[in-house]
Amino acid sequence: MRHLYVHLPFCAQRCGYCDFVTVVGRGAQHGPYVDALLHELELERELLAPQLETVFLGGGTPTFTEPRALARLLGALPDAAEVTVEANPETVTQALAALLRRFGVNRVSLGVQSFQPHLLDVLDRVAKPDTVRRAFYDLRDAGFDNISLDLIYGIPGQSPADLETDLGAAIELGPEHLSCYELEAKPGTRFSHAHGGELQRQAETMESYFELVVDRLTAAGYRWYETANFCREGDLDLRSRHNLAYWLGRDYLGLGVGAVSTVDGRRWRNTPRLAAYMEALEARSRPQREVEPLSDEVRRRERVMLGLRLDEPLVLGELAQVVDQDAMKRLAHLGLVRTDMRTLALTARGRFLGGGVTADLLV
Ligand SMILES: C[S@@+](CC[C@H](N)C(=O)[O-])C[C@H]1O[C@@H](n2cnc3c(N)ncnc32)[C@H](O)[C@@H]1O
Ligand code: SF4
Repeated sequence: MRHLYVHLPFCAQRCGYCDFVTVVGRGAQHGPYVDALLHELELERELLAPQLETVFLGGGTPTFTEPRALARLLGALPDAAEVTVEANPETVTQALAALLRRFGVNRVSLGVQSFQPHLLDVLDRVAKPDTVRRAFYDLRDAGFDNISLDLIYGIPGQSPADLETDLGAAIELGPEHLSCYELEAKPGTRFSHAHGGELQRQAETMESYFELVVDRLTAAGYRWYETANFCREGDLDLRSRHNLAYWLGRDYLGLGVGAVSTVDGRRWRNTPRLAAYMEALEARSRPQREVEPLSDEVRRRERVMLGLRLDEPLVLGELAQVVDQDAMKRLAHLGLVRTDMRTLALTARGRFLGGGVTADLLV
């Protein structure tokens, strides 16, 4: 296995829309949590290849982790060709950027979400637009030449002009990579209650927002290489190697509370309860896990679903068993897929319709 994900759950505060495994504050637990991660790494080390391709530290807010604990973790993790850390703008300082560089991080994914104060407020974000820009330049000054920005669209109160402004502001910074996500609001959450009507209205215009994102970013010289992901065109391949591994159906090991792993036809998810996770690892045993066996058929279906999110054609081979050949011809006729019967890709129109077309293709 050549891909390692490490989950750092700590955040300064909780954003209303967020559904990730996070805990607020807990400064005293940052060091012990890193110990637990390193114990888990020891328990699973034999699963890892001698040389990793990617390491990804996600959260939560990895850069909110107490710096000595973060440095200890980065220093103990195996080297990899691509080492990414997710960062919240308000946590980025010159010192933090230098620390990340010193410990071999070569890619930062900055959670911007929006550049506009009224939309950042709706999302309960701490960072102001100037904080985002300063964080970006601090990272550049420290030598980071591979920075990704996350944006969210479909935010309550956002207009198409607001989205244009956000895209323009992001392009102006010139990041190597952008991830643009449509806002997902879990039903039953406080956020959904607070913004119900407006979320409904935004859901109805989501497709036009999506088209706006793709038009604007491709016109600015970004390659739309995955449904929600864009990288700068040029000599270097600036796609996220770690996320590509997920989309190509490769195995990966996830360490940390709530982390998911897929190994040899089995998927497991560590307990999302921080206390239970730490207690198990203090006793040097594996944390409680939910295990799901993945049949060949399930894996093939997943590979089609994820593979069709990419711009490069999917090589069908054994995957042809889960693709409805008649549907493939019909959708090709409608201009939604491209196929020579050996490979399959969605056309631009097909990609805008996304999941619906893929669902039609699966037997
Ligand atoms: C694991 S999250 C956390 C990153 C970091 N803590 C932050 O808040 O910027 C990574 C990205 O997922 C996206 N995201 C999180 N919750 C989302 C939601 N409910 N809908 C759409 N995108 C979401 C955001 O763009 C975020 O930057
Ligand atoms: S900072 Fe990021 S991970 Fe933490 S609550 Fe906000 S969106 Fe979620």
